[in-house]
Amino acid sequence: MVVIKSKKFILRPFRKGDEESLRRSINNRTIYKNTLSIPYPYTLKDAKKWVAKAIEKTKQRKSDSVYFVIDIGGEVAGSVSFTKIKQYKAEIGYWLGEKYWRQGIMTEAVKLATKFGFKELKLKRIYAYVFPWNKASMRVLEKAGYNLEGILRKDIKKNNKFIDAYLFAKVR
Ligand SMILES: CC(C)(COP(=O)(O)OP(=O)(O)OC[C@H]1O[C@@H](n2cnc3c(N)ncnc32)[C@H](O)[C@@H]1OP(=O)(O)O)[C@@H](O)C(=O)NCCC(=O)NCCS
Repeated sequence: MVVIKSKKFILRPFRKGDEESLRRSINNRTIYKNTLSIPYPYTLKDAKKWVAKAIEKTKQRKSDSVYFVIDIGGEVAGSVSFTKIKQYKAEIGYWLGEKYWRQGIMTEAVKLATKFGFKELKLKRIYAYVFPWNKASMRVLEKAGYNLEGILRKDIKKNNKFIDAYLFAKVR
């Protein structure tokens, strides 16, 4: 898999040794609240399992997912990924460690990953689901050229609550 460089960070695959900084950056209540399957607290065991999975998925020739580390100074600052890759479409997901918030990092990372998805993965449609209160994430998507396609009512079940999903997409 490729490495994509920007001024603020690089996007690269997960590798062994990422477990500690992954845990440090992702172990955060707000990240947990705003995503579907990231646990909190996030243990080193979770990190080990995740890094092994991401490495394995990257090795597969026809993988259904691609996981990028947002690497700052050799550490896992965050991640942006494509999952449910199916022929011409995929879901994009992302999170960033709190100390890096509000510096335009995720806007840039989503823009770069989206470009990669269209060009290298040959996607025609990239979509994302956002919880109703997550204005920062909606802004990231808007700034990266995604459009709100609709609100899927009670589409997500989390902690026995049924939550609306804001569906964003960008097509090529
Ligand atoms: C959402 C998240 C990725 C944003 O990352 P970020 O690098 O801070 O975002 P950016 O700096 O690129 O900011 C993008 C826009 O969102 C705005 N924004 C950032 N944080 C915000 C907040 N807490 N509340 C409201 N707006 C916010 C920024 O001001 C900017 O908009 P502007 O240019 O109009 O001012 C980060 O907050 C995060 O990881 N949150 C928890 C996990 C998550 O929500 N993942 C996405 C699930 S769908």
